[in-house]
Parts: sequence; structure tokens; C-alpha cells
Amino acid sequence: MSIEYAVEMQNISMIFNNNIIANKNVNLNIKKGEIHALIGENGAGKSTLMSILFGIYEPTKGIIKINGNVQIISNPIVANNLKIGMVHQNFQMVDIFKLWENIAVGSEIKKFKVFNNKKAILKKIETIMKENDLEVNLNLLAKNATVGEQQRAEILKLLYREAEILIFDEPTAVLTPNEIDGFLKVLINLKNNGKSIILISHKMDEIEKVADRATVLRRGKVIGTYNLNETSVDELSFAMVGRQLKKIINNHKDIDNKKILEIENLNVQKNNNKKVIGLKKLNLQIKAGEILGISGVQGNGQEELANIIAGMQKPKSGKVLINQIDITKKSIYERYHKYKMSHIPLDRQKHGLVLDFNVIENTVLQDVGIKPFASKLGILNFDEIKKFGQTIVEKYDVRNASNGYAIVRSLSGGNQQKIIIGRELTRESDFILIYQPTRGLDIGSIEFIHSQILEAKKLKKAILLISYELNEILALSDRVVILSSGEAIGELTGDKISYENIGKLMIGNKK
Ligand SMILES: Nc1ncnc2c1ncn2[C@@H]1O[C@H](COP(=O)(O)OP(=O)(O)OP(=O)(O)O)[C@@H](O)[C@H]1O
Ligand SMILES: [Mg+2]
Repeated sequence: MSIEYAVEMQNISMIFNNNIIANKNVNLNIKKGEIHALIGENGAGKSTLMSILFGIYEPTKGIIKINGNVQIISNPIVANNLKIGMVHQNFQMVDIFKLWENIAVGSEIKKFKVFNNKKAILKKIETIMKENDLEVNLNLLAKNATVGEQQRAEILKLLYREAEILIFDEPTAVLTPNEIDGFLKVLINLKNNGKSIILISHKMDEIEKVADRATVLRRGKVIGTYNLNETSVDELSFAMVGRQLKKIINNHKDIDNKKILEIENLNVQKNNNKKVIGLKKLNLQIKAGEILGISGVQGNGQEELANIIAGMQKPKSGKVLINQIDITKKSIYERYHKYKMSHIPLDRQKHGLVLDFNVIENTVLQDVGIKPFASKLGILNFDEIKKFGQTIVEKYDVRNASNGYAIVRSLSGGNQQKIIIGRELTRESDFILIYQPTRGLDIGSIEFIHSQILEAKKLKKAILLISYELNEILALSDRVVILSSGEAIGELTGDKISYENIGKLMIGNKK
């Protein structure tokens, strides 16, 4: 009886440009009313497989059955008609529309066949909100909604179109811990209301919490499908990466007395709201060979701190110094070259990469005009550029990079991130600003990136690590400063750095 399955993907293969095998003979069955996790390394083929199910790509080979019937899903409209909905990682809301307008757009209930029947639309959305315990302020303009609110509206949009099969591609990568809890509750409600759910995620703890089964992909192939109540997280991790993971820890050695980065009495206003304080009288110092972790709830000044150091925002008062030189008013270019700074930014697509350049070109973005990549007269040394790019591809295991000649846009999200990290950790620098380095990376890549950050420490680089992942802060920091409402409210060093102590400092200072 195949009818118990909402989705059956049989023998699906997807080959791009005649040579990149993104999926190979994949079999994936989704039971009605289950939460099915789709997991695997960066570039394993998860997004591609779901894009096929949603009609974005036509597979090279294979059959798809929906509720037991073979279907050709030639585009997303066909998918919608089959009651399949997908929430992509980057939402596509119309900024100047209210949330209810975004939810209904294209499927409005009409009055006299022409006018939108706002009353009927709102009533329908409100009923859906109640049924699924999924509330959002419908009159909010999309541009004023938080990421979490926009995501709830995206889910309502699918339910408004009566989707029964819901696909989520890394939905929690952009959410705060509180929002993640809320989202997981929504998933369970949806499941209890009979929806079939496919969840792509790299976060094992949330998969353990909500998923019934998980299918593991590796290099385009299915390794297996597992019942979560019979399988441990370690077994799943092993299936994903094909080896045992190491625990990465900082030994707190190699710290010199030489101060590399100094922040003096920094006062900053929030970027998007001039009246609100971003940072207040902040003082920080980082020595050569030291990793300073910044911990705290998102939105407490981390973004402003990163922007000021990177030169993307001006402070109200105060100074930033690198190697005793005041760089507060220096250009971004000077910071990178003269003052030896590197930067792994939060928004990798906006600030870190040129998506339509190839991988090699992206590894020398800032440094292409200088030695060893160009002569004094500015003549490019293509051999050196190629060598540098290909070394990063190899060392950081950038998958399907075609020797560095693949266009970055064609790479999976996680592999794009590895290019930036590789470039910034490898280029010459004294100070590295690192913001959420492992967002969207698989567990094997996280282990590797963490070990490379510790290598950079060994080379006596000073590192500022801003991260909302407490595990990451604990694994890597020599010292931790806790930010709350733009102020440093506590500091922990070496062995004193623990979940409990960070938690205590956060709670003790809550206003
Ligand atoms: N449009 C495309 N053209 C060429 N190659 C592509 C295209 N889309 C994806 N690929 C390749 O297919 C492989 C699988 O990519 P996919 O995005 O499905 O990975 P993923 O499992 O979602 O990874 P991640 O966890 O990093 O998001 C990648 O190695 C990528 O290079
Ligand atoms: Mg993906």
C-alpha cells in the first residue's frame, strides 16, 4: 500500500551542466503526518532535491508520486496545485505590503470578481492562525516585521493556499533561540493537524526534538532513512560525515602580552534608529594569540560592534585601535591592507562574496591589486591567484568547485561560506573579526572551521568572535564578554567559561 505516503521520490538523479551530480538515484518517502528531517553535509544535495519536489528543477531521471499518483511537477504552480508548499531560506516578501497582503498576494478572495475582499481574506487567515496556534500581527508592514514574524507569515501563506506537504529549507538558521523554540512548536502543531513536513536542518538538537524520521544524504546519494526513536545523534552524525567527529577545545595557550585590538570608550547609536543606544562606554582589548568571545542575546549591540570595527558604521564617540594606531576614521580598504584586518561577515552574500564571479576570483577579492597577486605596476599574476584559490578549495573542502572555476552562485550555501572563511583565515592579518562563522555549516565543517580558528590563534592573530551559538563561544574563547543593552555586563576567563557562569551573568544583570 503506497497510499500512506504523501511523497515518494523514486530513483531521482539530478546532474547539472552534464557533470555535477547533485542527486544520484535518490529514494525518499514521506509518510502522511510525519516530520521528516533531510540532513547531510554542505553540498550533499538537500536543497536540490527539494527544489525538484517543488518544481523548480526538472530531474534528469526519476519518478515522483504524490499521494500515490505519479506527477510531473514542471513548475511551482503545479506544486501549489498538488498542495506542496516550500519556505525558502531567503524569504521573498514585498516590503511595503502588510503581512496579510503578503500572505494573500496572488490568491486573493475577490468581491464582484475585481476587488479584494479584505474582510473575507482576514477571516480566512485568522481561522488558520487559530487552528495552528500561529499568531502574527497581520497589519504590520513586512519591512517592519522581524525575521521570525516574516517566517510565520510565510508559513501562513502556504496554509492559506491549503498546502498539505510543507518543505522548510534551513528555517532556523536565521532565527534567535527564542524564535527557534516558537518555530518548533508550530511544526508540531502543523503535524498534529495532519500536515506532512520535510525539514532541512544542520542542527541535530532540533531534529532530535521534532523529527519522526531522518534521511541522510551524502554526496548526492541516500545513506539511509532512520527512525529517530531508535537512532542516536552520534549515529546520524556518523552517517552524514562518514567519520567520528573530534571535540575541539581551546587550551588557552599562546597568548602574548602585545595588545592588538583596543576599543576605547565606544558609544554608538543603533544603525536603524538614531535615538536608541547601540553601544555604551564599551572598552575591550584583545592580545596577540587571544580569542575574545562576545556572548549575549542577539540585538544587544553585537551588530553595531562589528559594523564599527569593520568600518561600515561611524561611532558617536570613542576609538578603535589596531597595533596602537587609531583606525576609527580609516577607510575599509586601509583597515584591510595597512592595518592588517580580516573579516568574516554575518551576511555572506551581501558583504563577503560576488556571486557571479568564480571561486578563485572570490578568494582574492580584497587583495587582487597587491603582492603576490599583482606587481607594483598592477599587472596581475594569474598563476599566484590560481594557486591561492585552489589551495583554499582543497584545504576547506569546497565541494563541486570545479578546480575553482565554478561560479559561486552555483555552490551550496555552506560551501559559499567556506570560501569566505578560508580566504579570511588564510590571508595575512593581525586581527580577525569573526561574526557567526558557522551559520549554515554542517557538523563536520564546523569541527574543521573551529580547528582552523584555533590555528589562527596559534599564529598569534588576535580574534574577536561574535556568536549566538553558546557552544561555539565555549569551544573557542580564551575570554568571554557578555553584552546586554550595549554594555559589557560581565567577563569570564579561561576555565571559568561555562554555560552556568555565562547564564548567571546574563540573568543577574537582566533589567
Ligand atoms: N544551479 C546549479 N548549477 C550547478 N551546480 C549546482 C546548482 N545547484 C546546485 N548545484 C550543485 O549541486 C550540489 C548540491 O547542492 P545543494 O544546494 O543541493 O546542497 P545542500 O545539501 O543544500 O547544501 P547546504 O547544506 O550547503 O545548503 C552542490 O555541490 C552544488 O554545487
Ligand atoms: Mg541547501
